[in-house]
Amino acid sequence: MRLDKYLSDMRIGTRKEVKEIIRKGRVKINDSIVKKSDIHLSESDIVMVDDRVIEYLEYEYYLLNKPAGYITATDDNFQKTIMELIDSKRKDLFPLGRLDKDTEGVLLISNDGVLGHHLLSPKYHVDKKYYVETDKPITPEAEEIFSKPMEFDDFVASPARFERIDDYHAYLTISEGKFHQVKRMFERIGTRVIYLNRVEFAFLNTDGLSKGEYRHLTKEEIKELYKLANLNMK
Ligand code: URA
Repeated sequence: MRLDKYLSDMRIGTRKEVKEIIRKGRVKINDSIVKKSDIHLSESDIVMVDDRVIEYLEYEYYLLNKPAGYITATDDNFQKTIMELIDSKRKDLFPLGRLDKDTEGVLLISNDGVLGHHLLSPKYHVDKKYYVETDKPITPEAEEIFSKPMEFDDFVASPARFERIDDYHAYLTISEGKFHQVKRMFERIGTRVIYLNRVEFAFLNTDGLSKGEYRHLTKEEIKELYKLANLNMK
């Protein structure tokens, strides 16, 4: 990989800024100052900027508290996308799963395709817990109905965990993530979802994050996700 790409991938600056930093002699490879941006690095090279070692992290993992009004897509000509909320120069990031435009809450964003694929596969049953507000009182039979498989034209929803808060509010935990799944499940019991917030994705929640804010996952959290997805850490 070229030195300037390495440094801009690691958010030292834009490609142009990084070239300037290199030209000024602030960058060392294996303790020697280099002034050329197009140098190709080998795996064992140690890169420093202002004497600080810059490690190359191949993958990035973000937890976003998605606000309403943003679509879950990498780009769109007309609507705001969740990517606009993430300040990263990496072009290969994508959302792990999707939330509707009006849904809020936990959304993971990464460039780790293998982990994403496994986490979203129905095979690994990662729980997603939603806070739901409805337009009408939730039927007393909701718990019983949701505790059984629910058949739709395109899939069968596995039994879900329903926790009533009051007549208009509840939590529903599902392990799949089909299109409009929670809204469709509540339609089945005669109520429309008027507010939806994913409060948990596996063990992750939005504690400490205002709407629109995000944080990097910790190493421990990434390890835990790998375990859930039945993968070995790279
Ligand atoms: N189920 C829905 O209906 N919408 C979402 O955004 C997520 C789950």
